[in-house]
Amino acid sequence: MNQMKTARCLRLIVISLALPLAAWGVSIVLMSVQASSHGLNLSRGAATFRDRCGACHFLEQGVSTHHGPNLYAIGVTAGKRKPNLSAAEYLLESIVDPDAFVAPQNRHGMPRNVAHDLEPSTIRDVVAFLASQGAQPNYEEIRRLEIPDFSTQRDPRVIRRDEMELAEHALREKADCLHCHSLYRNAEYQVLAPCLFGMGLTDAKHIRESIVDPNSVVSPAYAQVRAQLDDGRIEVGRLISSNDEGISLLTRGTVGGWSFVQVPASELIQDDEEPSIAPFSGSAMPNGFDKLLSDRELEAIVKLIRQLN
Ligand code: HEC
Ligand code: HEC
Repeated sequence: MNQMKTARCLRLIVISLALPLAAWGVSIVLMSVQASSHGLNLSRGAATFRDRCGACHFLEQGVSTHHGPNLYAIGVTAGKRKPNLSAAEYLLESIVDPDAFVAPQNRHGMPRNVAHDLEPSTIRDVVAFLASQGAQPNYEEIRRLEIPDFSTQRDPRVIRRDEMELAEHALREKADCLHCHSLYRNAEYQVLAPCLFGMGLTDAKHIRESIVDPNSVVSPAYAQVRAQLDDGRIEVGRLISSNDEGISLLTRGTVGGWSFVQVPASELIQDDEEPSIAPFSGSAMPNGFDKLLSDRELEAIVKLIRQLN
């Protein structure tokens, strides 16, 4: 009796599970038929997005990264960005020519070369995947989009997500580079050190050297001076102002803090032989990052900075 009851129960469970499972299976098949009938592969688009773009963009509502805007429901937003572009056209433009348009509230900084080693068909899948975020894409239109072929100009500078995460951790936590630098071009954040945006246009060697041996190349706008005081003290810092009343220097303390030092003209050395203010060749950027960072971290940082162009 009990066995019969159990068997009936099991049958009911199987039937009640089988129906939704079958419906789910059919809908999956329908979805893939719908996508594949247009020659598009949304799961490849999703995987490429995760690898290539995921370090800078999130698709979940409310989550943000430091590098790129949140792309929640971008399938809807994309259609409203530019009056003459459909959602798919806008998405394609954002990927192949990020400088063409920067949406209000977004800041510049999407690498120009981010898609430069992808096949056009892969870019098409990414466009289809993004167009499906919050909207029903026009697959027919996406299939017809004309996509430039950059894949022949493979660019070794393109950074992968694992490198991006390594570089992020090193920049923010381990070496605290962002204590002094900003990654973006923003006048407010360039007081202590140059912003790193735009450095992507210089060569990797210069970037690497600036990090491992800051004194070897000092960017002129941040060059320091050495001020000789009457009582024998010496102050080193960037000359912020100088007039009849005295000078003001931005100096970096040994523990990493910055301060403004005012020296009244009367306290500067008055000596015809010795100038009171002379150029100082050392950088305000500390030494020792080559020892603090592993080779992999250093390479990842250089690659990340090279994206900022
Ligand atoms: C290094 C960071 C970074 C990477 C990697 C990156 N992006 Fe971006 N992206 C940005 C930034 C910053 C912006 C905002 C400035 C702009 O619109 O150009 C942006 C903007 C966009 C926009 C426009 C958003 C809007 O609100 O209009 C789209 C779409 C986009 N990215 C897609 C992608 C795709 C697809 C990839 C990968 C193939 C990618 N991004 C890789 C940083 C990045
Ligand atoms: C205590 C502040 C400070 C920290 C921390 C710091 N820097 Fe710098 N950095 C500077 C200053 C100031 C300059 C400009 C003087 C110079 O060129 O050496 C500079 C210059 C640079 C340059 C050359 C910029 C150019 O325009 O040529 C690069 C690249 C750079 N830093 C990267 C880094 C990286 C990467 C880290 C972390 C590993 C880091 N910095 C940590 C202050 C800092």
